[in-house]
Amino acid sequence: MPTGAVMFVQLLCTVWVVVNLCDGVAAAGSPRHIVFIVADDLGWNDVGFHNPDMITPNIDRLAREGVILNQSYVQPLCSPSRSAFMSGYYPFKTGLQHLVIVNYQPVCLPLNITILPQKLKDLGYATHIIGKWHNGFCNWNCTPTYRGFDSFFGYYNAMEDYYTHTTAGFLDYRNNTSADKTENGTYSTYRFADEAINIIESHDKSRPLFLYLPFQAVHIPIEVPQKYEAMYPNIQTEGRRKYCGMVSALDDAIGNITKALTSSGLMNDTLILFTADNGGWVTENGNNYPLRGGKVTVYEGGTRAAAFMYGSGLQKPGTVYDGMIHAVDWLPTLTAAAGGTPVTDRDGMNLWPSISASSPSPRTEFVYNYDSHPFPEEGHAAIRVGDYKLIDGYPGLYNGWYKPEQVTNMSLTNIKDWATKYQLFNLKDDPNERHDISTSQPDMVKKLAARLAWYEKQAVSPNFPELPDPKSNPQLYDNVWSPGWC
Ligand SMILES: *[C@@H]1O[C@H](CO)[C@@H](O)[C@H](O)[C@H]1NC(C)=O
Ligand SMILES: *[C@@H]1O[C@H](CO)[C@@H](O)[C@H](O)[C@H]1NC(C)=O
Ligand SMILES: *[C@@H]1O[C@H](CO)[C@@H](O)[C@H](O)[C@H]1NC(C)=O
Ligand SMILES: *[C@@H]1O[C@H](CO)[C@@H](O)[C@H](O)[C@H]1NC(C)=O
Ligand SMILES: *[C@@H]1O[C@H](CO)[C@@H](O)[C@H](O)[C@H]1NC(C)=O
Ligand SMILES: *[C@@H]1O[C@H](CO)[C@@H](O)[C@H](O)[C@H]1NC(C)=O
Ligand SMILES: *[C@@H]1O[C@H](CO)[C@@H](O)[C@H](O)[C@H]1NC(C)=O
Ligand SMILES: *[C@@H]1O[C@H](CO)[C@@H](O)[C@H](O)[C@H]1NC(C)=O
Repeated sequence: MPTGAVMFVQLLCTVWVVVNLCDGVAAAGSPRHIVFIVADDLGWNDVGFHNPDMITPNIDRLAREGVILNQSYVQPLCSPSRSAFMSGYYPFKTGLQHLVIVNYQPVCLPLNITILPQKLKDLGYATHIIGKWHNGFCNWNCTPTYRGFDSFFGYYNAMEDYYTHTTAGFLDYRNNTSADKTENGTYSTYRFADEAINIIESHDKSRPLFLYLPFQAVHIPIEVPQKYEAMYPNIQTEGRRKYCGMVSALDDAIGNITKALTSSGLMNDTLILFTADNGGWVTENGNNYPLRGGKVTVYEGGTRAAAFMYGSGLQKPGTVYDGMIHAVDWLPTLTAAAGGTPVTDRDGMNLWPSISASSPSPRTEFVYNYDSHPFPEEGHAAIRVGDYKLIDGYPGLYNGWYKPEQVTNMSLTNIKDWATKYQLFNLKDDPNERHDISTSQPDMVKKLAARLAWYEKQAVSPNFPELPDPKSNPQLYDNVWSPGWC
């Protein structure tokens, strides 16, 4: 927007409080800064604002002084959620609906899609990513600095050691396009926080900043500096004690980053979005209780994210937003929060007018996933329409309700028992999916199945090559996971 137009809109804001026009304009007259934080595999019940046993004072303060997103949904797994955040498309439209992108697969988020950092760059933003990419890296054009980010510090794959930064035996750690072999021994949560602070402190304040912070925490491997583990002396099992420490280290990082935003004078014009990428992994110490299931399942425990927004533009801070949100909505929603024109031709909807004003969400339905791969290790298909949720077939590996220190021997879902079964839940009355009402409400089953079938017609086949591509071998690239083989 030219300066004159901005001033005119601000004038309108003062005089008439025209909500939708005012939303796009931050106090200083230039677009607001946006910090988008993703926690990896963080469970619904792994944050203090849901569970008082967790020590997350910084996250809790931001959540309570911001807007807690109580029905914000994501995909059941990492790369599908990240692809949805970046593209605004359901993974079943981009071929990423089956499991995740594996190190040796020649697969990435399709290159003909303009993604979130490119949209924000067009609006004048400085754009930076620190942390986990996991949208594919087999070709340089798939990687962050070729897709709209000015800089990248982090790793390409799903997971790695927090200290050596290696996965499957090879390094995966980069500063922009160069392998960084100098960081063996530095815990990534510290490193990523420090890098975020560097970017904040050296940011040219005449431009809006987009900082995408997909942290490594709290995905396996379970590794944490002793001081954070020591915060939970009453937890008996080592895994859960360390995992909770990892969450508190993440919280400390977020505290340090928010301090830097404040001391550099950016905070007043900053909007923070915090979300998990999927539910906690119940066999790896994650806690989604009382929600059902967890990571890899289409139950609520796998898909309903711990999430909040904080800061600039939120007109009802200190409230809970109960409207329906899906991962695909963040591209148009953040574009709108940045003062841009949101896309209308993708799966995502612009929820900025309703989240910022705390008015009802225009979203009334979404697809949890649709996976047509013959071996759906994760949930096969599910849809929500209004208060109702239909699961079609296999729901994913874990179908119970798990308290972390009590997970010892869980029964796993057998694909054969569930392949042809429908489950129906009324999430308003039964958010924890305790009562399958599919037999008592056959008409509702039919209605949701028909809607799911309508979406399924729009699906592409999963892009999931089974065999490792030998050209991916890091030994061909100085022992570093590297682009250049697709
Ligand atoms: C991208 O390319 C694929 C494959 O050619 C095509 O099906 C899809 O519609 C294209 N998407 C966009 C957004 O152009
Ligand atoms: C990455 O590259 C950009 C653009 O070339 C440069 O401005 C920036 O300093 C680099 N970042 C790092 C961390 O080296
Ligand atoms: C990345 O490399 C650039 C140029 O070599 C250097 O100036 C910068 O400090 C490095 N950044 C990080 C985060 O290591
Ligand atoms: C990292 O350092 C440890 C301990 O010094 C060493 O055993 C390991 O080989 C190093 N790893 C890499 C990838 O350099
Ligand atoms: C946060 O900052 C404090 C004080 O500088 C430091 O001790 C701590 O290690 C930092 N934590 C993280 C996770 O970066
Ligand atoms: C930020 O906003 C607060 C409250 O509106 C105000 O007191 C403070 O002076 C502002 N700080 C800056 C740096 O603009
Ligand atoms: C776990 O439980 C199953 C049956 O529920 C049983 O067959 C199996 O032996 C148990 N495994 C262990 C390690 O206790
Ligand atoms: C969030 O949703 C849960 C249902 O899962 C509900 O019990 C709770 O009241 C909601 N919280 C608020 C503050 O609306």
